[in-house]
Amino acid sequence: MPAYWMPILVTESLIQFDRVVAGYSPALMILNALTFNARVGEITLLIGPNGAGKSTVLKTLFGIITPRTGTVRFAGEVINGKTPRALLAEGIAFVPQGRNLFPALSVFHNLELGGITLPRALLKPRIEEVLDRFPRLRERAGNQASTLSGGEQKQLEIGRALLLRPKVLLIDEPSIGLSPKIAADVFQMLRGLADAGTTVLMVEQNVRSGLKISDRAIALEMGKVAVDRPAVELLHDPNLNRLFLGGAVA
Ligand SMILES: Nc1ncnc2c1ncn2[C@@H]1O[C@H](COP(=O)(O)OP(=O)(O)O)[C@@H](O)[C@H]1O
Ligand SMILES: [Mg+2]
Repeated sequence: MPAYWMPILVTESLIQFDRVVAGYSPALMILNALTFNARVGEITLLIGPNGAGKSTVLKTLFGIITPRTGTVRFAGEVINGKTPRALLAEGIAFVPQGRNLFPALSVFHNLELGGITLPRALLKPRIEEVLDRFPRLRERAGNQASTLSGGEQKQLEIGRALLLRPKVLLIDEPSIGLSPKIAADVFQMLRGLADAGTTVLMVEQNVRSGLKISDRAIALEMGKVAVDRPAVELLHDPNLNRLFLGGAVA
């Protein structure tokens, strides 16, 4: 492929929301004609005040919520109404907020369950691949998930999501409950994934740390885009504190 194609490929939008209206009941729509794109191999950071609809974006993309109107596209294809299982098979993985492991089961067993839809012959090598990426999980493979530290549990959740080699990783507030040092490790790992070609769409309240590893930042306000800018630009904006760290988006 000629080299001049590359810039076109790397800026391609993998995820496209086009005037998406979605919510939890017909009377109360949370996403209000939301339009945004997320590009291949980038980390797109969703920020904004509590209740702005950030988690709802991820749930809509993963098929937990079906848009009332508007279209959600993944790799150019409309995916409205597809189930999470179908979307997982197409390459979308979701790591929700909070703890999402089987606490009484071992690290290895948690991984096995994450790969339950894989052909049997693929499961073992894929688990090995994840354990290669997370040496700490390999050391603790036989231990109950509940005995892992918060950071290790987050690694396990991410590792489990990576078993299917997703094209997109959706991750909601990965740093919650982690020390700044461990959160920084998780962020670096996400940056590494994106650099290796996985598209990441992340919700994160820790705006400054999130921006540092992200390519693009989208601030939501009442289910609409309030700001859509390169992350580095926003990080160095003298108004950042006032805009995002002191409460609602101006
Ligand atoms: N399962 C649910 N049922 C009804 N309302 C919900 C549900 N989840 C979230 N909401 C409401 O939707 C709005 C947006 O929520 P959410 O997307 O979680 O916001 P954010 O992640 O930006 O804090 C909030 O007003 C919240 O109360
Ligand atoms: Mg949320």
